[in-house]
Amino acid sequence: MDNRRIGLFDSGLGGLTVMKELMHMLPAESIVYFGDTGRVPYGGKSVETVIKYTKSDIKFLQTFDLKLIIAACGTASAIALPHLKDQYEIPVMGVTEVTAREAARLTKNGCVGVIGTAGTIRSGAFCELLKQENPEIRCVAVPCPLFVPLVENGYLEHEATRLIAEEYLEPIIKSGADTLILGCTHYPLLSRIIGEIVGDRVRLVNPGVCAATEIKKRLTAQGMLAEKPEEEPYHFYLSDDPGGFTRLGSMFLERPISGHVSRVDIEAYTESAL
Ligand code: DGL
Repeated sequence: MDNRRIGLFDSGLGGLTVMKELMHMLPAESIVYFGDTGRVPYGGKSVETVIKYTKSDIKFLQTFDLKLIIAACGTASAIALPHLKDQYEIPVMGVTEVTAREAARLTKNGCVGVIGTAGTIRSGAFCELLKQENPEIRCVAVPCPLFVPLVENGYLEHEATRLIAEEYLEPIIKSGADTLILGCTHYPLLSRIIGEIVGDRVRLVNPGVCAATEIKKRLTAQGMLAEKPEEEPYHFYLSDDPGGFTRLGSMFLERPISGHVSRVDIEAYTESAL
């Protein structure tokens, strides 16, 4: 048994889609969430910047007594974690490995689509991991940069989103992929539209579900599950003014936000040069 909290970070609020799955699968766990709302988005930033930001996000979370840190952010997981994750005493886990493993297990025809931010797709991380799982897998990766602002503006079922999604997903449909990785925190909120466009034949793989499943498995195997949540189990820290957080945050979390919310000066945890 281990009652220490789990730390979760993201470039902003999208990581709450991962937290939602954790809360659902591991209701006894207490969680500290850090959203870098002052520096979001990471998706179009350089490798150096994403690494620098990710380092500071982890450094901030290390100020808590945690048993595990999860990078909920697809971009941080794909770009920064391969450089960083073994540098810490505490286990730091991203969403890419577990998601690629699940997609490789699910595909029947060996063709897997990946969608994510420009940075995630440019990194080639998901395709590389899929090939490590099975060198025969064909990977078709498409950046979908407009999905993040569409989701953040609540355009989940909007006609504009459908038109853009149809264009983005065309190469995935043409490839014949039977499995599609939703490689960004925001995309599970577009599951309905994406599913309608690619059709029932294509399995959508949600990194939040994959990560939560893996964490449950690991903590169970290591005897590290919490016995019961703290009285106030959820703590949220943001690097910008938390105004509007409860409204937008509850859209990602798909339940009202309750818990401690405060602002943190993330620059104080950021190295000025790498
Ligand atoms: N959280 C990011 C991701 O999953 C999306 C938003 C951003 O670009 O920072 O890749």
